[in-house]
Amino acid sequence: MKAKLFTDKVAVVTGGSGVLCSVMAIHLAQLGCKVALIGRTQSKLDVVCKTIRGLGGVAVAIAADVLDRQALLNAQALVHQQLGRCDILINGAGGNHPSATTSQTRFDASQSDGKSFFNMDLSAFSSVFELNFMGTFLPTQVFALDMIGRQGCSIVNVSSMSAFAPMTKVPAYSAAKAAISNFTQWMAVHFASAGIRVNAIAPGFFLTEQNRSLLTNADGSLTDRGHTIISQTPMRRFGIPEDLVSTLEWLCDDSSAFVTGVVVPVDGGFMAFSGV
Ligand SMILES: NC(=O)c1ccc[n+]([C@@H]2O[C@H](COP(=O)([O-])OP(=O)(O)OC[C@H]3O[C@@H](n4cnc5c(N)ncnc54)[C@H](O)[C@@H]3O)[C@@H](O)[C@H]2O)c1
Repeated sequence: MKAKLFTDKVAVVTGGSGVLCSVMAIHLAQLGCKVALIGRTQSKLDVVCKTIRGLGGVAVAIAADVLDRQALLNAQALVHQQLGRCDILINGAGGNHPSATTSQTRFDASQSDGKSFFNMDLSAFSSVFELNFMGTFLPTQVFALDMIGRQGCSIVNVSSMSAFAPMTKVPAYSAAKAAISNFTQWMAVHFASAGIRVNAIAPGFFLTEQNRSLLTNADGSLTDRGHTIISQTPMRRFGIPEDLVSTLEWLCDDSSAFVTGVVVPVDGGFMAFSGV
C-alpha cells in the first residue's frame, strides 16, 4: 500500500467499475480512502471492490443509476451506514453512444445513411447529454450535502478534450462535457464559502471499450480517426488510466487547497498543439 494521504476519508466514485474510474478508485483506496463504487452493474462493481479489498483497502459496491435521484439517496444511506459521510466525490460516470453520433465529420448533402445532423435520433441525443451532465449534477446534489460544514472536502468531475473544442461526430457528448466544465466553475464559486473545492480533469484520448472500435481496427492498427488523434498528440500515444491518478490525487488533497474551478487537461499535449 502507498503512503496514507487520505486516511479514513470517504470517497464516492461514480463510474467506479469503468476503465478510467476503477483505476482512480483503486488509487484512492491505496491512499487510505474508504471507497464507495457506484455504477450500473453490480457484478462489474464487485470485481473492483474485490481488487481493493485484496490490496488491503476498504470498499463497497453499490449499483445505482446516476440519473435516478432516489437510487442515489439510497446509495448515500448505504455509504453512511457502511463507511461514513462523503469527503471526496469523483463524478466519473459518463460516455457516448453510437446512436447519438453523425456518421460524417462534415455536412454532406448527398449523405443517405440516415446518420446526418438532420435526422439525428433525439432520444439518443438527450440520453447522452443527460448521462454526462445530469449524471454529474445529481450525484453532486446528493453527496455534496455530506460535505457541508466539514474540512478538506473536494469534488472532481470528468470533462474531456471535447469540452474545449468539440470532437467531430459527437455533438451531444461534446456539449455535455462543455456543460460539465462550465458547471465545475459554477460550483467552485457557489461552494467556495462552504470550503468545498470543485475541479475537473479533462482526459485526452485513452483507449477504452467505448472508443476502441472508433480508434483501432480489429487487427489493432489505427483507424483514420485514431491516426488523426495520435498525429495531434505531441506525445504520440494514447493515455493509460494510470496517467490520471497523480492529478486526481493532487486535486483531492489539501496540497491544492487554493485551487478550485479548474479543468486540468491530462492529454499528452493535445490541447497545446495547434495542428501546425
Ligand atoms: N476514454 C477516454 O478516452 C475518455 C476521454 C475523456 C473523458 N472520458 C470520460 O471518462 C469517464 C470514464 O470513461 P471510461 O472511458 O472509463 O468509460 P467506461 O465505459 O469504462 O466507464 C463508464 C462508467 O460509467 C458507468 N455508467 C454509465 N452510465 C451510468 C449510469 N446511468 N449510472 C451509473 N453509472 C453509469 C458505467 O457503468 C461505467 O462504469 C467518462 O465520463 C468519460 O466520458 C473518457
